[in-house]
Amino acid sequence: MKIPFLNHLQTSEPLPYLEGHTPEHIAIIMDGNGRWARNRGMPRVAGHKEGVSVVFKIVKAAAKSGVKVLTLYTFSTENWKRPKSEINYILRLPKEFLHVYLPDLISNNVRIKVIGDMNELPASTHETLQYAMDRTRDNDGLQLNIALNYGSRNEILNAMKAMVKDLNNTKLSMDELDALDERQLSKYLYTADIQDPDLLIRTGGEKRLSNFLLWQLAYTEFWFTDVLWPDFSENEFLDALEEYRQRKRRYGGL
Ligand code: FPP
Repeated sequence: MKIPFLNHLQTSEPLPYLEGHTPEHIAIIMDGNGRWARNRGMPRVAGHKEGVSVVFKIVKAAAKSGVKVLTLYTFSTENWKRPKSEINYILRLPKEFLHVYLPDLISNNVRIKVIGDMNELPASTHETLQYAMDRTRDNDGLQLNIALNYGSRNEILNAMKAMVKDLNNTKLSMDELDALDERQLSKYLYTADIQDPDLLIRTGGEKRLSNFLLWQLAYTEFWFTDVLWPDFSENEFLDALEEYRQRKRRYGGL
């Protein structure tokens, strides 16, 4: 179902009729770039290139809709299994994205953060991302999390290792150990200062999580579409928001 008064989206004001219903944090698995390109007889990387402009459109749509945090799955720890040429191409895209769109993102008050292990990224991508994070650190509009070289199991394992090290150093008693709760482990994740996603969108027709935010998605609402990421538009994004508004979230209660 489409949201009425779509024209309001042309304004830069948050939409009043979504207030209280808009998911605050949306996570997206942007799938289908390769198929989109193949369907057009183009190399797979053409789909990734097309996907970049969709990223900007959806960031704008999210900001206009009053979403506070948007997390985009851009490159997983498993994506290293792809051909080297495709890996190199994908890992250059954040730099190209920021080269074109950073001024717009800054003027729209967007704050950029990377989740994932940045150490293995190409140096120039690493530097550009670090610059963008530093430059937008004080912005208090939409937070855009770019998940790059991110894998959720690895994130949880590293969180546990770091926590055990800290616990060893502080020599907790058995009682204190028993009292540890989920919030304490959450503090060791990349998402320590980010609320859990309210809505997960996956494009491209597959219905799986692909090692994305396994801990953080425990009570998230899921929305799947067959639309391939390069064809994903503001309208579909708004459809997802609209459906989210109809859902009853019970968190295991009644
Ligand atoms: C999955 O589609 C997509 C990726 C692994 C890369 C996604 C990256 C972008 C859209 C660029 C994002 C850039 C920024 C700056 C956030 P696939 O290749 O697995 O598609 P397929 O399932 O059709 O093969």
